Order: sequence, then structure tokens, then C-alpha cells
Amino acid sequence: MNGKRIIFGVTGSIAACKTVFLVRALIKEGAEVQVVMTPFAKEFITPLTLATLSRKPVISEFFSNRDGMWNSHVDLGLWADAMLIAPATASTIGKMANGIADNMLITTYLSCKAPVFIAPAMDLDMFAHQATQQNLDKLRSFGNTIIEPETGELASGLEGKGRMSEPTDIVNILRQFFSINGILCGKKVLITAGPTYEKIDPVRFIGNYSSGKMGFALAEAFAKRGADVTMITGPVSLKTQNTRIKRIDVESADEMYEAAVKHFPKSNYAVLCAAVADYKPENKIAEKIKRENNVAMTIRLVNNRDIAAKLGEMKQPDQILAGFALETKDDIANAKEKLKRKNLDLIVLNSLAEKGTGFGVDTNKVMLIDKHGNKVAVPLKSKTEISDDIVDYLINMKIIWV
Ligand code: PMT
Repeated sequence: MNGKRIIFGVTGSIAACKTVFLVRALIKEGAEVQVVMTPFAKEFITPLTLATLSRKPVISEFFSNRDGMWNSHVDLGLWADAMLIAPATASTIGKMANGIADNMLITTYLSCKAPVFIAPAMDLDMFAHQATQQNLDKLRSFGNTIIEPETGELASGLEGKGRMSEPTDIVNILRQFFSINGILCGKKVLITAGPTYEKIDPVRFIGNYSSGKMGFALAEAFAKRGADVTMITGPVSLKTQNTRIKRIDVESADEMYEAAVKHFPKSNYAVLCAAVADYKPENKIAEKIKRENNVAMTIRLVNNRDIAAKLGEMKQPDQILAGFALETKDDIANAKEKLKRKNLDLIVLNSLAEKGTGFGVDTNKVMLIDKHGNKVAVPLKSKTEISDDIVDYLINMKIIWV
């Protein structure tokens, strides 16, 4: 963490007493720490204590009372390599999730370009409340990392989940974040994941069984090697943890197409794992279709645009483009045809024929077929392990060919 600049946000919780250890540990690691406190945080720990430990005046107000200087949240947001908010109360979490910028900490958060780590601390019922959980989900969907609280004795005397994570664990998470210096550091990766939903009417859609597990595992595999990943995902219930993954949620193939075409030119690698619907209803019906007894109904479908084929056309010589093939018969021949027609460098063939492969499950069994005709069969493994194999293969392809 040597030389890393950390904004350390402190809010009004009894867990603020643990910030003494946190600030000391971060300074010991060589980080430069700027403490920003909410007004309520000062009821639990004095600014003097944190200013002394961080070796910098604490910021809490928009203006400094002493010299009338304006504390610029924008400059602070741009200065940081990371922002940590510990402890984060339910109130601050709610304000962050909804952009209620009524104190210096929230304005700094909204201006911050660096990854943000949030360590909630509150009573068990407050933590379990739907409002808090929805706000945390919202923050996760913005790409923030939530450092889960622990279960144990709480300040109220009750037992449950809500205790702020221990300072040593929080420091470890930051240490891990800063120590990523993998082979793909500085590289940009585009992933598509999950299914697409094609609307029939306001309550019905055409979709498929993709859970997003394969695509999310790939995004994690790239991110843990230091790449900056943009993942465009259809509707799934999975969460992203790694702050190097920027997630774009879409619903339809058209939305996925637009997002992929926009982000592909900046990407060094793209892996298209989404199960994109090949067809969509020709007409979207504004009202819910009513049932009519004994009357058959026909929905006319038209082709969706092919994202992989479009990116294959756009591909530059220094870009690597990989796709997946999901086949039920003549799998190798069909996969090779797709590899060629879509101008891919690699196709990952998986089949629905075998147990433990394809949709929904945590494992997969694939064959990697590259544009030179090389084939590598990867046995049944977890989607995490398969993703590591795919990423290694792509890295080697780039070293050898590009
Ligand atoms: O999400 P999981 O539950 O973990 O399941 C993983 C998976 C089975 C969905 C995944 O491993 C997989 O096989 N994804 C691709 C499924 C698919 O749509 O295959 P395809 O053979 O129809 O398409 C070939 C390639 O073209 C794919 O890279 C696909 O993303 C792409 N494509 C297809 C149609 C389209 N309109 N645009 C595309 O980009």
C-alpha cells in the first residue's frame, strides 16, 4: 500500500472506535490517509485523535471554520486511489445509494473515481431490513465492494449479524486490492454474460436458462489477473465482487448489442459468453395479451442482430475475440462454422448432452477450438477453473500471435 492515497470515511457508529486501529494500520502500511468524518461520527471519536494518527487534518465540513477555506470534495475524489467507509451506518448507506449529498462524506463519495469499499456496522435488525439490503444491493450494482459485517455480540447486547468487520480483515482486503499486479494489468476486457429477455408484452418474454455463472466466472478470472473488465450481463441474480469488474445490466439482445459495440473498440480481449436470443417478437404489444378460449395464437419472430458477428467485423489485428458455442448435435462442425463465420480467434464449445455442463450448474466441460484448428479438450471442472484455463489460453494466443 506504499504511497497509495486512501480517503477514509467515518460515520456515526460505536464501531468508529475501531478506526483508531484501522488508521494506524494503513499508515504503517505506507498509505496516505485522508479522514473525512460525518457530523455524527465526531460524537463517537474526536477529529483530534484521527488527525493525529493520520498525520493530516480531518475534513468534516464544506468550509474550514479556522480559515474559511473551501474543502473541495471533487479534488479529494480525484486524488484518491481508493475510498474506504468504515464504519458505514444504515443512514450513510441509504444516502450513498440514493445520492443524498448532504454532508462532506457523501459529496466526496459521489465525486470519487476510485474503487469504494464499504464496511457496514449496525444492529442486526437494521442490517437485515429490506431497505438496508436493497441499498447495499444498489451500491454493489454501482461497482462498490461491501465488506460484509460479522455475526457476534452487538453494542445493543443482542447477538447477530451487524458487527463491523475487524480492522485486520479490512486492511487485508485493501492490501489484496492494491497488490494485484497480474499479467493483465492495464488490459481491458469485455465479457457478455447471462441470458437476454425478449419482450412479448409487459408481463411475458422469450428467454433461456442461462444463469450467468460461466460469464461471471470469466469476468472474475480476468479481474484477478489485473485486467479492467467491462461485463455486460442479461438479467441474472448473481453479484459482482471484484472492483475491477464494471457491470452493465441489460435486458434484451438489442441493448446488449449496443453496449458491446460501444465498448469493444477499447478492449484488448472480448469473450462473448451470453446466451443471446436469436429471435425477438416482431411487434411489442403494449397491453397484456388476454387469453381467448379455443383460439390459437401466433407470435411472429424476427432475427436479433448477431453481436459476435458484428464484433468480428470490427476486430482490429491486436484484439482477441472469443465466443462460446452451445450445441446439441454435430457440435465440433457447428462450432468451427461459427468460429469462421463470426471471425473469432477462439470458440469454447460446450454441450447440453452431458451432465454437469452448460446452463445453471457450477461446472462445465468444454473444448477450446482456435482459428488455427488447434483443439484442447478440458475435462469436467468448476466454471471458475474452466475460466482460468480459457484466460490462460487467450493470454498465450496473444503472446504468440499478436
Ligand atoms: O450462464 P450459465 O448458466 O453459466 O451457462 C453458460 C452457457 C451455457 C450459457 C455458456 O457456457 C454458453 O454456452 N454461452 C453461449 C450460448 C450461445 O448462445 O451459444 P450460440 O451457439 O447460440 O452462440 C454462439 C456465439 O455467438 C456465442 O458466443 C454467443 O454469445 C454469440 N451470439 C449469439 C447470438 C447473437 N445474436 N449474438 C451473439 O453474440
